Amino acid sequence: MRKKIAAANWKMNLSWKEGKELISQLIELSPTIPTAHQVIIAVPFPYLELAAQLVAAQPGYFISAQNCYHKAAGAYTGEVAASMLASVGIKYCIVGHSERREYQQETPEQLAAKLQLCFTHAITPIFCCGEPLSVREGGNPSEYVRSQLVDSLSCLASEQIAQLIIAYEPIWAIGTGKTASPEQAQEMHLAIRNYLTESYGSAIAQGIPILYGGSVKGSNATAIFANPDIDGGLVGGASLNAVEFATIIGALPQ
Ligand code: PGA
Repeated sequence: MRKKIAAANWKMNLSWKEGKELISQLIELSPTIPTAHQVIIAVPFPYLELAAQLVAAQPGYFISAQNCYHKAAGAYTGEVAASMLASVGIKYCIVGHSERREYQQETPEQLAAKLQLCFTHAITPIFCCGEPLSVREGGNPSEYVRSQLVDSLSCLASEQIAQLIIAYEPIWAIGTGKTASPEQAQEMHLAIRNYLTESYGSAIAQGIPILYGGSVKGSNATAIFANPDIDGGLVGGASLNAVEFATIIGALPQ
């Protein structure tokens, strides 16, 4: 059975003092994570090692980076390589978040390179995809998302694909308070899983966790996670509040 995952994406928020308090509160509220579940917290680069130390003794809790660079090493001032994340024990990295695609103009080729580098260093990528509002309203959202998958995943071997976590995050639902309805989310998750089945076979497709992201909150998580192809959430705003995020963890299906 694939894991059910509550992933937090802090983005560029919180001081370390605030972040430390948040993780401590979260552990107090959700001290026991069932073995079928995972809690992954994506923190800013400077907090990675400190956050990893805080959760080291907490089974089921993991720390993730929010990004890595698409080159292995070299003269790229200010960038962080996947090998560096691995060297401080980090095992997860978000790749292709829509904010990076938009604000940093990250291309599908760069995302493919990041995925390869993550796998080289035994880091599980959380690969994000999702359509903008114009495509949801006037285009073909599942075709759009499918081409995002084709463009960045085609270069990977099946054994690598089998290690992926995918996050479907419709851009129009991120940070807007507008959530995709559970039906809209399930429909896209099924389309993603169908694509994975066609391309890599059912055994691999059935094993890949597909998370929903976009205004997930304590109050809507249960309805979203109840769908057969939704394996948890990637949560921004609501992950900055321990009570909210603990409620989301508690909403993961058994
Ligand atoms: P949100 O962000 O939960 O604040 O909508 C989700 C994300 O961008 O990962």
